[in-house]
Order: sequence, then structure tokens, then C-alpha cells
Amino acid sequence: MRTWIYNIGCLACVDNHGKLRLQGKEMAHLECLENAWMIVENERIAGFGTMADWHMAQGQMGTASGRMDVEVDAQGGCVLPCWCDPHTHIVYAGSREGEFVDKIRGLSYAEIAQRGGGILNSADRLHHASEEQLYVEAMERVHEMMRKGTGCIEIKSGYGLNTADELKMLRVIKRMKESLPVRIVSTFLGAHAVGRGYSQSDYVDLVIREMIPEVGREGLADYIDVFCDKGFFTPEETARILEAGAKWGMRPKIHADELASSGGVVVGVAHHALSVDHLESMADAQIETLRGSATMPTALPGTSFFLNMPFAPARKMIDAGLGVAVASDYNPGSTPSGDMKFVVSLACIKMRLLPEEAIQAATLNAAYAMGLSEEYGSIAAGKVANFFITKPIPSIEYIPYAYTTPLIKRLFLRGKEWTI
Ligand code: NIG
Ligand code: FE
Repeated sequence: MRTWIYNIGCLACVDNHGKLRLQGKEMAHLECLENAWMIVENERIAGFGTMADWHMAQGQMGTASGRMDVEVDAQGGCVLPCWCDPHTHIVYAGSREGEFVDKIRGLSYAEIAQRGGGILNSADRLHHASEEQLYVEAMERVHEMMRKGTGCIEIKSGYGLNTADELKMLRVIKRMKESLPVRIVSTFLGAHAVGRGYSQSDYVDLVIREMIPEVGREGLADYIDVFCDKGFFTPEETARILEAGAKWGMRPKIHADELASSGGVVVGVAHHALSVDHLESMADAQIETLRGSATMPTALPGTSFFLNMPFAPARKMIDAGLGVAVASDYNPGSTPSGDMKFVVSLACIKMRLLPEEAIQAATLNAAYAMGLSEEYGSIAAGKVANFFITKPIPSIEYIPYAYTTPLIKRLFLRGKEWTI
């Protein structure tokens, strides 16, 4: 099937260089083609150009016969690659607005966790929910994320905290992978908190000796995560868990330096993590740890906003020449939102990223942070055709500026329109 999209006011994130990630100054160069067209063949982008050279392109691309199965008038709107969200926890049961109120009354995230709230609260609820119920709830969340333009999502386990419930979560993620046009990758996060009834060391042993081999045997996880932070898992425990995961081909994407500068970035980079995420308490010294590595620092500005805590030093990292990705962290405790447009706005407003930098942090660099940037995250010939068309807007900067206005008119996933 061949689809022609024409009258595109601005085709954004055009990528003719095949870069897998953008770093430092590169992040501010967002390539746009004005007054453009794009052709999609089946699931993939086949070509693009400006309306002025359409007739020449038609000849070159063998489309002189003019045969198009679908013609889409973008009516002057912008076309952007779908948002990529490389850090979420969207498989969970119920909600935790009680803790939201506790926080307003002055309790900290760590205090709530210590009282048996937080992650353990969600683990209790998940234990009593059926696989079907979890699937239905998570699908509702994904559909909302799709309507807001997200086309690739990483989903973590980590509310099971015993072997059976961790497997239950991962099977739900697998079913979502198989049933959605959105690209989903899964991450095993057994070490999110110590499960009820276990000592710290028994739980770490359980993760290493039982959970990882079972997850590995069933092929349920692409990546492995550990909440390496003060009060959760130490860098030494993290290293042991990551080594066990590596034996099953699970590359790390870890929670690091959220609550304290706790060694998470160092252990992540040492274990070739694809990403280190959160970083709200990251020390400047870690910029040097990250330099020259393949690890993508990933900021979660929605979490800082919702928890009213410091933001990751993303501006500093970009100024130091690093790449940065952003993600929603959608979860019931610290960020009950998967709105990547709002994340992009927060990255601009609170972390001082330029709109171009924030958009690339949420597209190509976000795709990189989930191992998908060869196929997703920009407008490039051969990439999967996951994109959206906006209403006519004055500029790309308008996207984060209009921070609560819905701008998406049409959404295409794997080359097919998905009705929003
Ligand atoms: O990424 N920081 C650790 N985990 C989650 C929060 C999970 C929860 O509170 O349920 C996060 O913010
Ligand atoms: Fe998280």
C-alpha cells in the first residue's frame, strides 16, 4: 500500500544522516522541510521532499503513473515522528491519589515508601488483580498515550515483587506487544523494591537465582532495570543483578540518582547500560562518567514536576556535549501521566532545553534509549512510518509553547491511520 501525504506545512525531524543519537550542539539542529510531501510504502517511509520538486521526484521514485492507494491532505499542518517514551510503568492496578494528598500535606516520597506505601502499595493491588484486569487497565493508558502522539513505549515490570507476580506483569506486557501497532519493549524490574516478607539479601538472591532465569527462559524481557538508590538497592547489589541479567542477554536501563547521588550512574555505565534514568540528584562528576559511553542519560521531568523536586541537570549535560533523552515515567506513584507533549514543555520550561532540543530528546534520543533508533524516532527513508499530523501551527516552537493545547489531528502507526 502506498500513501501520499501532501501539503505538509513543515516536515520535522528529517534525518538524512542516519544518526542513532544526537549529542551536545547537534540536539539544537532540528531539520525541517517546509511545504513538503512524504510517501509511505506499507509500514515504512519511502521518501519525502518539497512540493516544488514533486514532479521531478515522482519520476525518480517510479510514481509517474500517479498511483497512490491513499492520499492525505495535511492541510498545512506539521508532520512529526511519533514521540518515543523510553521509561514507563503503565501495567498497574488502580491508582494512588491518597499518597498524592499525603504529599500535599508534606510527606516525602521516601517517607511514604518507608511507611509501606509507594511501590509496595501498588504491589499489593497488583497481586489481587487478574492478568485480564491488568491488561484492560494498561490498554486504556496506552490508548490515551497514542492519542497524544506516542508511538514507541518501554514498559517495566516491578510491581510484582515475587516471581509469580513479576511474570504476570511481563506476560501482560507481552500481550500488549502483540496486540498494538505501537512498538513496545519490555524491561524486567524485579529489583524495584524489596518484596513483602523478604529480607534485603534474600530478595536480591531471589531476583538473581529465580526471577531472572525464569524471565530469561520465557524470553519475557528485552532489558533489565534496578532501582539503584538510597533506601532501595546499593550499587553492589545492582552490579550483581545486572551481571545475572547479562547472562540472559538483558541490557541494563536503570533507575539512578533520583533520591541521592548514590552510584547508580557509575554502575550503569560500567555495565554498558543503554540508559540511566531519573538523575534528579546527579552530581556534576557523573557528566565525566557518561562522556564517551554509549549510555543515554534520560530525564523524567514529569516526575520532578509531580513530586515537586529538583529537575535532572539536562541543560548542563547538553552543554557538556552529552545527548539527553526524556521520558514520561508514567506510573501510579510519581507520575500518573504519559503525556509526552507536556514532558517536552517541561523540558523547555524547567530544564531550559530549547524546543528543538526537547523535541529531539523525545524522539530520536528517546528511541535510542530503548534501542530502537535504527527504525524509529525521525523522518528517514526506510524507518517505520510512525508519525502524526498537527493542526496548522505557526512554528515547531509552538508545540511546547502551547503546553496544554491538543495539536494532533491525525496519527499514523506502521503506515496506517489510527483513528484518534
Ligand atoms: O520511576 N523511582 C522508582 N520508581 C518509580 C515510582 C514508582 C512508584 O512510586 O510506584 C519512578 O518514579
Ligand atoms: Fe521509573
